[in-house]
Amino acid sequence: MNMWISRHLVVIWLHLLYLTEASPRYANGFYYQGAMNGDGNGEIFFSGVRLHVESPRLTVAAVQGSNATLPCHYRYVPEVHTPRRARVKWFRLPLTDGSPEEDVLVAIGTRHRSYGGFRGRVRLRRDAPGDASLVINSLNVDDIGLYRCEVIDGLEDESVTVGLEFRGVVFPFYSSRGRYQLNFHKAKQVCEEQGATLATFDQLFAAWEEGLDWCNAGWLADGTAQYPVSTPREACGGSDLAPGVRSYGPRHQHLERFDAFCFTASLRGTVYFLDPVPKVNFTEAVQACLDADSEIAKVGQLYAAWRFLGLDICDAGWLADGSVRYPITRPRPNCGPEKPGVRTFGYPPHHQKHGVYCYAPRW
Ligand SMILES: *[C@@H]1O[C@H](CO)[C@@H](O)[C@H](O)[C@H]1NC(C)=O
Ligand SMILES: *[C@@H]1O[C@H](CO)[C@@H](O)[C@H](O)[C@H]1NC(C)=O
Repeated sequence: MNMWISRHLVVIWLHLLYLTEASPRYANGFYYQGAMNGDGNGEIFFSGVRLHVESPRLTVAAVQGSNATLPCHYRYVPEVHTPRRARVKWFRLPLTDGSPEEDVLVAIGTRHRSYGGFRGRVRLRRDAPGDASLVINSLNVDDIGLYRCEVIDGLEDESVTVGLEFRGVVFPFYSSRGRYQLNFHKAKQVCEEQGATLATFDQLFAAWEEGLDWCNAGWLADGTAQYPVSTPREACGGSDLAPGVRSYGPRHQHLERFDAFCFTASLRGTVYFLDPVPKVNFTEAVQACLDADSEIAKVGQLYAAWRFLGLDICDAGWLADGSVRYPITRPRPNCGPEKPGVRTFGYPPHHQKHGVYCYAPRW
């Protein structure tokens, strides 16, 4: 009963507004979303324009330190020809229930104001009428999350949510005991130990599109074993098969053993090469990083630094899993194959002497 009354009061009120406005045709159309309507679906369509707010992408994947654009567009149906002053508000949804949402930017006309950690780093793109896309400069890890673009025009208030995540890199991982030693559970564990997670099929597929070619099957997060081939060859499933991600399908998670495909997002912090004189064995390498207020780098951290920060060092160093590797983004003579990549020397005996890659969890 109460609901009935309040709904109708709103309609009457809107009617009054509409009638008192000496209006160009669309200047005062309201689309009223029945907030008082129990099921949340009731909409009272009131003669006039309806505001649509849309984003072509639900998620934007970006690289730390770069600029990201979170798309958001609004339009009126039917189209309006007189300029309207819509207010655009971007805010970030709370990461945990109960904490407040965070204001990012509010814009009216050509003026805007940014807030908190976003101050001076964000603007609206405004490439075209109705473009309310948010540009965030110099992204840092804390920027990851869900953002809502809200457009307010008169009583109309519509919004859309866009996620911001960091791009990651997929890397193959095998045990120091050799190829095909990992059951599913162990594979999950070794990825985690290397600052990563088991890759999903989509992540492996994206890596294959970027050129990953690996001729040993590895576990994926869904419990299948697959491998990506960009150059078909006899030793690798046959040279007459098309390039692609080859799947062995779901495998027995305890009894069957493969390598692993791990996924790591771009990282906060710094990976650097420590070049002790004289070179160090594995035990000394771990200590050398600690002495430098760092820790010996994990494989995932080295891959992320290679992929997203362009780390390029033609010197082999110890890593936390006891492997020896080095990252190359600009291939050149004496630094491995002609393609960029993280070169690996496998797992040499721990008494061998090398440099070491350390990781410092700061910029
Ligand atoms: C990010 O945007 C700023 C200012 O618009 C520009 O100077 C800078 O080059 C951009 N950075 C990258 C990585 O594109
Ligand atoms: C590394 O060298 C130190 C001596 O500097 C020695 O105590 C340690 O056992 C060596 N570790 C390995 C794994 O060879």
